[in-house]
Amino acid sequence: MKETDFELTPEEQAIMDGEQGEVLQRVMNTVVTYGKLMGATRLIDLQAAPHLALSWSTDGFYPFIKIFKELADAGLKTYAPFTSNPKAMDHDNLDPGEAKRAIMNEAHSHDALLTGIYEKLGMVKNAWSCASFLPEIGNTPKYGEYISWTESSAINFANSVLGARTNRNSMGIDMMTAILGKAPYFGLMTDEGRQATWLIDCRLNKLPHPQLIGAAIGLKVVEDVPYVIGMDEMVNKLDDPIGYLKDLGTATASNGAVGLFHMENVTPEAKNHGRDLLAEGYQTYVIDDAELERLYNSYPVLWPDPDARPTRVFIGCPHNTLAQLKWWSGRILKGLKDAGQDRVACTPYIFVSDAVKAQFQLESPQLADEACDAGIHITRNCPVVYMQTPGYDDEMIITNSNKSRAYSKARFYMDDDLVEIVLTGELPDKAPAGQS
Ligand code: F3S
Repeated sequence: MKETDFELTPEEQAIMDGEQGEVLQRVMNTVVTYGKLMGATRLIDLQAAPHLALSWSTDGFYPFIKIFKELADAGLKTYAPFTSNPKAMDHDNLDPGEAKRAIMNEAHSHDALLTGIYEKLGMVKNAWSCASFLPEIGNTPKYGEYISWTESSAINFANSVLGARTNRNSMGIDMMTAILGKAPYFGLMTDEGRQATWLIDCRLNKLPHPQLIGAAIGLKVVEDVPYVIGMDEMVNKLDDPIGYLKDLGTATASNGAVGLFHMENVTPEAKNHGRDLLAEGYQTYVIDDAELERLYNSYPVLWPDPDARPTRVFIGCPHNTLAQLKWWSGRILKGLKDAGQDRVACTPYIFVSDAVKAQFQLESPQLADEACDAGIHITRNCPVVYMQTPGYDDEMIITNSNKSRAYSKARFYMDDDLVEIVLTGELPDKAPAGQS
């Protein structure tokens, strides 16, 4: 990282000189220092609303609570009402059982304190979701708008699918820039930083699992910007391309560190600029069906007993769209009907925001009731925070999320296999080679 000269406007300089108080001065100093380290030479005004994230289960959480309380006590607020990543607990819908409930309550005893501080600083009430950009919550930046978000999946979606502009920020910097209403101008905020240095040439016979192809791309390009070709005809035919692109981007961001991808004829910048987005000297990565199968078969089994019975099935990380919630509920109910069963054998948990759940109950009350009666749970929790809570190692969890797989011991399965596990409570006979 290099240090640069940094230019401030007279208004910014006044804040830096402490004319609006010592706390805001420290905020400005932090943001400028961060900008200098990242090679920025100026700040840019932020436009659409902030989205923040915190690592709930880690010790690193506490210094942030202290800092945020200081900001709130000084009477500071974010430049626009903000949304935040999901909370750690939802015992009504994802009950870990009595013993673990006590561990969970202890591990996340700061939950109410943080909620109070966030509301003082300007949080939208109950807007706890990593998919706050969906219409049910509505923190949806417009094309070209500058933002300064955390949460790698939301950043990836905002940059790639909405065409907004944010870097991959860390905890704390998100709040500092939200208080200031300004962020350092560098990286993915600039035209140059949004050029693709990889061409991803997809030669596939069928639409791949979004979190498998996303992982393949992320592992190859790591933090670079990929330009994906060969997917547009399949993706543009989908009923819910938003859910698909959200999941694909999430896997690029978590199995690699991708903050932005372009997809030819699909994502907005690729529609506007086409292959002009490819930087000179770009590299090429060809993905075919065999490459994806190789990757799927390579995932290690981290369960102590690979043949153990699954205890729960987690669907969605990040939070599902309304269409995904309807699809998964319908798919599991159809499986039950075809099998002549009334209830699931291994409980599935579908992760969504409260707003999406409420809309589901409003739009599809019969489906919602049937899902509930069959034993399908719908929860606002974050599955990864749940699985990372100390003492949860004995849970044998199956997931459709390659992000959850990468951040925990959960096993990743394709949709049909996952439904089979929900119906039978057993692992499928033919496990992926790496999982056998
Ligand atoms: Fe969202 Fe938690 Fe996954 S914040 S992206 S559900 S790790």
